[in-house]
Amino acid sequence: MELFEFMKQIVYQAGSNIREQLNKPLLIETKSNPNDLVTNMDKETEQLMYDAIMEAYPEHHIIGEEGSGRDITSMEGTVWIIDPIDGTLNFVHQQENFAISVGVFVDGKKYAGVIYDVMRDTMYSARAGHGAYKNEEPIAPLVDSELRQSIISMNPNWLTKDYMKDIYSDIVIKARSARSYGSAALDFAYVATGKVDAYITLRLHPWDFAGGVIIAEEVGAVVTNQMNEPLDMLYANSIMVANKALHEEIYTQYLKPHSAALDNIHQERFHRR
Ligand code: IPD
Ligand code: CA
Ligand code: CA
Ligand code: CA
Repeated sequence: MELFEFMKQIVYQAGSNIREQLNKPLLIETKSNPNDLVTNMDKETEQLMYDAIMEAYPEHHIIGEEGSGRDITSMEGTVWIIDPIDGTLNFVHQQENFAISVGVFVDGKKYAGVIYDVMRDTMYSARAGHGAYKNEEPIAPLVDSELRQSIISMNPNWLTKDYMKDIYSDIVIKARSARSYGSAALDFAYVATGKVDAYITLRLHPWDFAGGVIIAEEVGAVVTNQMNEPLDMLYANSIMVANKALHEEIYTQYLKPHSAALDNIHQERFHRR
């Protein structure tokens, strides 16, 4: 079986396992803070996928949010970057609006991305250079938009501190409207399918964006950090993904004027090359 088909197959299997167990009691623990939750299903889903990949491809490398591949420091070989449940808070509180996200890279090159909206049974997928799909339907290339006619996705938490307000509130004011979905992977899928025109966030990990970057770029989205720099798949970063014209407008008119502040944030929080 082709690797791309295998990716989709194990993600479907992991998703149906989550659906089957949805009514069983959850074991919920906290991670870095009281609102950073992890459940037994996050861990079980990562383990299930890990075991399936290792059985089929023992030479592959796996980085997962719940602990796999912490020692991996290079993108050499075939590297899977997995978020077993992206949107754990939605999973716990809503039992919907969460996704499984997978990006696969071969010697550092994008190979394929898969984002599975488990409860809607909707699979977003793309093999680099071969188009993106929503289930079996090809996703159309993105159409340019202007901020004043665009819906942007941004978590309101990014407006709660003064230094953030200075950077982001003008974007929210100028946009047609703003949304917050609580799953970075679904945000990428929504940009890719034109449901929102941009997704802007100040901190994501590779497992949040690895699958989404491949799918979004395949339909012409521009994906960078907020300094307009390329993303590194081994490190956390800020994110801006949008159709080409909107990415340019937001970067040049709203982020670049704050480049000194953004540079400080990036120096403090993120690995810079
Ligand atoms: C989180 C979600 C959320 C984003 C957070 C992520 P998780 O992932 O993608 O939308 O705002 O930064 O950590 O922990 O639910 O997999
Ligand atoms: Ca998490
Ligand atoms: Ca995540
Ligand atoms: Ca997760």
